[in-house]
Amino acid sequence: MTQFAASNLTLPTPLGGELVNRVVRLGEDFELGAFEHLPRLELSGRSFADLEMIATGAYSPLTGFLGEQDYLSVIEHLRLADGTPWSIPITLPVHRDEAGQYTGRVLLTHAGQPVGTLQVSEQFTAQKDYEAREVYRTTDPAHPGVAALYAAGDVYLAGAVTLFEVPRGDFPHAHRTPAEVREVIEARGWHSTVAFQTRNPIHRAHEYLQKVALELVDGLLLHPLVGQTKGDDVPAATRMQAYEVLLDKYYPAQRTLLSVYPAAMRYAGPREAVLHALSRRNYGATHFIVGRDHAGVGSYYGTYDAQEIFGAYTPQELGIQILKFEHTFYCQTCGQLVSPRTCPHDSSHHLILSGTKVREKLRAGENLPPEFSRREVAEVLRAAYQQQS
Ligand code: ADX
Repeated sequence: MTQFAASNLTLPTPLGGELVNRVVRLGEDFELGAFEHLPRLELSGRSFADLEMIATGAYSPLTGFLGEQDYLSVIEHLRLADGTPWSIPITLPVHRDEAGQYTGRVLLTHAGQPVGTLQVSEQFTAQKDYEAREVYRTTDPAHPGVAALYAAGDVYLAGAVTLFEVPRGDFPHAHRTPAEVREVIEARGWHSTVAFQTRNPIHRAHEYLQKVALELVDGLLLHPLVGQTKGDDVPAATRMQAYEVLLDKYYPAQRTLLSVYPAAMRYAGPREAVLHALSRRNYGATHFIVGRDHAGVGSYYGTYDAQEIFGAYTPQELGIQILKFEHTFYCQTCGQLVSPRTCPHDSSHHLILSGTKVREKLRAGENLPPEFSRREVAEVLRAAYQQQS
């Protein structure tokens, strides 16, 4: 096995230069009683995930929810007001009739429990049509990201946050902050790490991309998104089970790290690909995979829009190398996973299953073809779908 020297390891600097840390410890840094008189704001699952992403530094250089100047700048220029690359406004929506009570310091709660604070520096009105058109490239309420945008409040609260405790969620063994992922990378001596974002089970095409990348870099950060996803996506718990059986049998343990990415899915395609890449830099990755229709849904985005958007930035600004892959699938005649770059045969030779088709097969209790999905993964999925029906 290749040995990596742990010496001289330089991980990529976080965006903005330093990893933000807004986690304060209950009982050590402060007493909860100090906040009990404050107005309380109950966070949605999505906003709670954003709070965690900000406070742990996954969204460095953000130290809080965006103010109006940054909000408009991100929408219009794909940058924060100071010019730092940023593609999706991270905002805290509240309903207009409640907004008046939130001034000064606010106690943030989730499921009724205190989870952090917000120092309100500003309130402003969301420009939802503009935000939807620019960020999601559509105002169609059938788009799940757009639907969430319109369902939330019309007033955005801005300001610095604190988080009382990192919520380790449903997968505590795989729930690591950016600082903790960086520690593992250092301990393993990986000079280069490729991060892989996914909201799906790992099928053969995903595995192919990861392993091609692993031929070039030292380590793979398998970084599935486990925040809110749309109803027909495979639930995170089932996916985690499938990732574990796959890694166990087919991946080199010393070159692979499974860790969860707590954010909610926005389905913003190209803009979300940029956010995904920048935050993976904060987690310590040097490379990031962007394949076909990254973070896409339906047919709102062109197949490679999420690759082209990176042209808006210089490589130095991004600080993470984007590994772009074309559509990958199994070719019966080549007898292997291929892409249009490597396969000379037409589509009649190819095995391509849409997400919808995969779900149909699983619901019908059918197995997935081994060229599409490893037997062990297909079995986990089939069992999960059978249990549902
Ligand atoms: S995503 O919403 O997280 O992007 P998914 O989990 O399906 O969805 O994809 C994870 C990554 O793999 C993305 O970069 C996506 O572009 C890429 N990808 C998925 N399937 C393929 C494929 N068949 N060929 C090339 N890239 C793919």
